[in-house]
Amino acid sequence: MLPVPCLGVKAGWILVIGLGKADEVGLETLRKVAGRAAKRAKAMKAARVLVQLPASGAVGFDDRAFARCWVEGAELALAPIGELKTGNKKTPDLPRSWKFLVQPSGKKAARDKALREGLVEAQAFSAGCLFARHLVNLPPNILTPKDLAARARRMARTEGLTCRILNVAQMKKLNMGGILGVGQGSRQEPRLIDLQYQAGGAAGRKAPTIALVGKGITFDSGGISLKPGAGMDLMKSDMGGAAAVLGAGLIAARLKLPVNLRVIVPTAENMPDGLAVKPADVITMASGKTVEVLNTDAEGRLVLADALWYAGRDKPDYIIDAATLTGACVVALGSHFAGLMSNSGTLIDAIKQAGGETFERVWHLPVVDEHMEEVEGTWSDLKNLGKGREGGALTAAAFLAHFVDDETPWAHLDIAGPAWSNSARATGPKGGTGFGARLMARAVQILVS
Ligand code: BES
Ligand code: MN
Ligand code: ZN
Repeated sequence: MLPVPCLGVKAGWILVIGLGKADEVGLETLRKVAGRAAKRAKAMKAARVLVQLPASGAVGFDDRAFARCWVEGAELALAPIGELKTGNKKTPDLPRSWKFLVQPSGKKAARDKALREGLVEAQAFSAGCLFARHLVNLPPNILTPKDLAARARRMARTEGLTCRILNVAQMKKLNMGGILGVGQGSRQEPRLIDLQYQAGGAAGRKAPTIALVGKGITFDSGGISLKPGAGMDLMKSDMGGAAAVLGAGLIAARLKLPVNLRVIVPTAENMPDGLAVKPADVITMASGKTVEVLNTDAEGRLVLADALWYAGRDKPDYIIDAATLTGACVVALGSHFAGLMSNSGTLIDAIKQAGGETFERVWHLPVVDEHMEEVEGTWSDLKNLGKGREGGALTAAAFLAHFVDDETPWAHLDIAGPAWSNSARATGPKGGTGFGARLMARAVQILVS
């Protein structure tokens, strides 16, 4: 990156940045370069940034994709953290006005339109991702289940979704033994967040219904099956799935996607206490199935089971869930890939394509009858553990599959690895990554197009 002071041009500085080899430039290259440029522009206290488009045909994407990735990369890279440090300014002083320079030609109007569309899309996508990151970064004493519900409600109001929050009494009526069981060991009450976005007009009524379900454990101590102390602070991020689906809901509503979207978040705090669920307890889930809790640290599948049943009641066209579900998935795939398990080829294709484009990469993993049988119970219908540690991400997904109708296309994303980053990256600081928000919004776009 080379800053060049200029004379005779109406700009203080020109930043020259190489994109690399033309045939190797992908969408993510552009996001990363834009991120680096934006950070530099910020450091130079630039008030405005103008971006010269590459000559047409020089790189393999159109104006809209260019604007989309450039603005997204810059917005994500400039994301503020440290809002809780005293003395920190609430609003970051960033060059948030992006302009693209197009060579004068007959097609200028059409090119400007494409650029504007890309920009609007990028701003929605980055806003959804940043909202998700912010939720993940908030400390668990502030972001309790009730607080998460309040923030979801506020977002819904601003973005035009309807919002219903189920409290303990309402969940009791639905026999949600999974969410209530996990929540009963904490002084912080659990909640079920249910947001809805309806596409407008006649087309809206015919639009497909998609339910996004996200694990919202605001802190996972493990419960009575307590986790070791080292690294337990990371478990404030155990609502990364909830953050992702809320972010995706924000994006879909802001872009007015032609979809009927449900965003469902079971949220609870997993704590040990005198009334907490203990190993060997048998609980009855909303679906009516009984589950023996063999390990209270396998709590995500319990809250999700009730939420998946709830999402499936209206027979949506698709269900996608996202959850920081298993350490096993982190061992298998590391932190740059989410595990993808699904009963639907359509969903697998759409999510893989979306992940390739947003660079939130997924890897398809199998769930078969043997995994389904492994979580069948001795004293109850099911148990919340597989036989041993092997295939832990798969048996967790198989447990969830017991709560989804075979006929409903469903995909499960285990985002335990990519939801959090221990170090800063070109497209964002360390901490919550917002993984899944852009991915699911893009998948929705693909599914309804
Ligand atoms: N929230 C954890 C999974 C997790 C691990 C998320 C690492 C992010 C980073 C989940 O609730 C959990 O504790 N899973 C257990 C399941 C086991 C008891 C079957 C695990 O993975 O160890
Ligand atoms: Mn756990
Ligand atoms: Zn958990």
